[in-house]
Formats: sequence, C-alpha cells, structure tokens
Amino acid sequence: MDLISVDDLSDPLLEELLRRAGHWATHEPDAATRHLTGRQVVTAFFEHSTRTLMSFEIAARRLGGSVTRLPVEMSSVAKGETLRDTALTLDAMAPDAFVIRHPEPGAAREVAGWMATPVINAGDGAGEHPSQGLLDVATIRRHVGHIEGLVVAICGDIRHSRVANSTAKLLTRLGAEVRLAGPARLMPEGHDGPDGIDEAIGGADVVMMLRVQRERLSEDLGDAPGEYLARYGLTGERLSLAKPDAKVMHPGPMNRGVEIEDAVADGERSLIRAQVAMGVATRMAILEMVTGEARAR
Ligand code: CP
Repeated sequence: MDLISVDDLSDPLLEELLRRAGHWATHEPDAATRHLTGRQVVTAFFEHSTRTLMSFEIAARRLGGSVTRLPVEMSSVAKGETLRDTALTLDAMAPDAFVIRHPEPGAAREVAGWMATPVINAGDGAGEHPSQGLLDVATIRRHVGHIEGLVVAICGDIRHSRVANSTAKLLTRLGAEVRLAGPARLMPEGHDGPDGIDEAIGGADVVMMLRVQRERLSEDLGDAPGEYLARYGLTGERLSLAKPDAKVMHPGPMNRGVEIEDAVADGERSLIRAQVAMGVATRMAILEMVTGEARAR
C-alpha cells in the first residue's frame, strides 16, 4: 500500500499504526523483529528536511533495512528529467519502499500512480504530511494519555501547512476539538473559527505552533523584529491562557523568537523533542506496514 494522505488509513490500520509506533517508542528491535532485513528503502527529497529525512532513514536501518538516498541535486533531475521518468527509473530498480518529499501538492499521489513500489508521502507542498500527523497524535497519546475530548490549538501559518492538514484531520477523527488560528493572511480561504490566537489557546490542553513558511510566501510579511511573536507567537504569557498543565508542540523546524519564544520551546511543558523521538518510532511502524504489504504481494 501507499501512504499519501491520512485519509488512506482505515480505522483499524490507523489504530494498528499508532499501537506499533507506541511499541517502537519503548522497544528496540531484535533479530526476530527487524522486519526490514533484506529490504531496500529509497528516499528522494526535492525539498529540504532534517527530521523527516533522517528519521525515515534511521527507522529503516533500525529495522534492519538498507537505505539509498537519491541525491536530487546531483541526479538527472538537474538535466531536466521529468518526475515521471525519475519515478519510473527508480521503480525499475525494484526497491521495497519509496519515500518522497516534493514541493508540489499532489506530487506524491501522482508518483504512486506511476510506481509499483509502495510510496510514502514525506510532505507534498502545502498538501499533506501523513507521517507528521501520525507522530503528532502518537506523541500526544504517549504524553497526555488520550486524544478524545482534548482541546488542541494549532496556531500560526495554517494556510501553507501540510502538517496542519494531516494532524488536524487525525485529531478530529480521534475525537479532539481542533482550533485553528493565525494571522488572517496566513489562514485558509473561507476559514471560520476562533478570531484570534488568544481565543484559540484559551483553555487548551495542547498548543501546537506552526512555522511561518516564508519560502511559500510571495510577499514579505512586513513585520518588524519581535512583532510576529508579540502579536501571534507563543510567549510564556500567552501560554498561561491554556490549561495549567497544557503541553506545547511544534513540528519543527522552529523560527525561534518568531512563532515561539525560547523559554517556551525549551520549557518543561514542551513535547518538541518528544515529537522528534516519536518520529523515528512512527516511521518504523509506517515502513513495517508498507513493506509488509509489499512482502504479501
Ligand atoms: N517537521 C518536518 O517535516 O521537519 P523537516 O522539514 O525537518 O523534515
């Protein structure tokens, strides 16, 4: 199977993935559970990444698999080869899974249509980022204990965020109340929700801040240094509007001093590093799932 959108997951598959991610968060694989032994994972990132690229590769190796990274800038993409021809070329080498990040929304779905190899979407522009959504939910489950009934405020650059798309869908599906808020120019067209960041954060159990994606903005935000943080960012003062034990999340990379204050990012209520750790465990679960399917074919 492919994992392009969180909507691709049935309820039983979603539950199994979250259960398995929780397992790998607390267990090391052994000879009997290195399920990618003899398996080959190819990664191709057409956009920058630290967390997603490294954690997919570490996850594959932890499960006994091999990883080959397409060096995009040194590849025939630079000579004008189309995405379709690149995908067909890699497919002919018969890897067991193909992990792709691409700036165009819908690119991963297109690639999955061209390849027999199971395809995992590691982020397609402002489309989806299913492994991030899964790791966010798995992190909350592990550190808060449940999802149902929680109030989760997701704040910042919602318009350009594939993370908001995937994470919000999963949280809503699992019974959380999701409040999306941000500067009007960074909200999706036609959004109907809380008017402001303070209103969204008020009484929340979890506050997830999102990076301002300046690379996807055609115009300069025009905000003076410190202005975004003061008006829309997560400061200690703003966090005090949430529940006293509210957790702080951010998918990374962070613009420190822009959407989040240092003391909050590094504070004791922050789950940001826990999200990174859960990223490896979740991607182990995803790779097991897609290569298990490949084995069964
Ligand atoms: N959260 C996330 O996707 O981070 P990277 O861009 O570093 O992979």
